[in-house]
Amino acid sequence: MSDVLEFAGVSVVRGGKTLLDGVNWQVKEGERWVIMGPNGAGKTTLLQIASGRMHPTRGVAGILEEVLGAVDVFELRPRIGLASAALAGQIPEDETVLNVVLTASYGMTGRWREKYEKLDERRAFHLLHEWGMSTFMNRRFSSLSEGERKRVQIARALMTDPELLLLDEPAAGLDLAGREDLLFRLGELARDEEAPAMVLVTHHLEEVPTGFSHALLLRDGGVVASGPIEEVFTEEHLSTAFDLPLDLRREGGRYSATALRG
Ligand SMILES: Nc1ncnc2c1ncn2[C@@H]1O[C@H](COP(=O)(O)OP(=O)(O)OP(=O)(O)O)[C@@H](O)[C@H]1O
Ligand SMILES: [Mg+2]
Repeated sequence: MSDVLEFAGVSVVRGGKTLLDGVNWQVKEGERWVIMGPNGAGKTTLLQIASGRMHPTRGVAGILEEVLGAVDVFELRPRIGLASAALAGQIPEDETVLNVVLTASYGMTGRWREKYEKLDERRAFHLLHEWGMSTFMNRRFSSLSEGERKRVQIARALMTDPELLLLDEPAAGLDLAGREDLLFRLGELARDEEAPAMVLVTHHLEEVPTGFSHALLLRDGGVVASGPIEEVFTEEHLSTAFDLPLDLRREGGRYSATALRG
């Protein structure tokens, strides 16, 4: 199995503040990672580096067997699917749902553009269908509900058939039914052997889909624990990461936690 991500001593310093502090992290093909930690722990910053959108201040970030800083990021980025609130915020008001997915492939194809357009359109439609959104394809993205937007964003992230899929808080802002629907779909994707390596950021244990194999706990930019999910998700590790004594439960492959008081 080759390395999808290989971070060695990755630090990010901005405005005198250390956002990531010497992170060592390896993601291999087929692995499904959850990154968890409190607000401000550095989760989004870590995804920014993993997606080739930010460079480390110190350390080496290996991405898909390339080294960030020594590779053309415009060639690297189409190999990585990213869904995040920041990216969704850049979508123009009047963009149609189909175009939101379709435009992810721009820049990858130069020659034979027209031929690719048909293929791209078919792929975009197919992805929207898989994520239960094909009947919305002519709607404006801005008119969708939060849950519908999340599914379109994931379809978009998958458009280039990426080798790595990064999801920053995909279940944020969803109601209970929307969250459960999305987690079910993400669980299915996690179990699909053809699916790319996945990294999902959340700060809620309840938002971890089944089928995820590994976890990385962050606190103040540093790694609290990292490895197979059952070894990382312990009361001790989670209590340290969130600086709160926690009671951890696991049932049917899903996790939940409540604060221990007393
Ligand atoms: N350009 C910057 N200059 C200074 N501090 C920054 C800068 N960008 C981010 N930060 C800080 O770095 C910390 C980590 O940010 P990051 O967005 O990675 O956290 P996060 O774990 O994703 O948090 P959340 O759960 O709230 O999304 C935060 O305290 C943030 O305010
Ligand atoms: Mg964040």
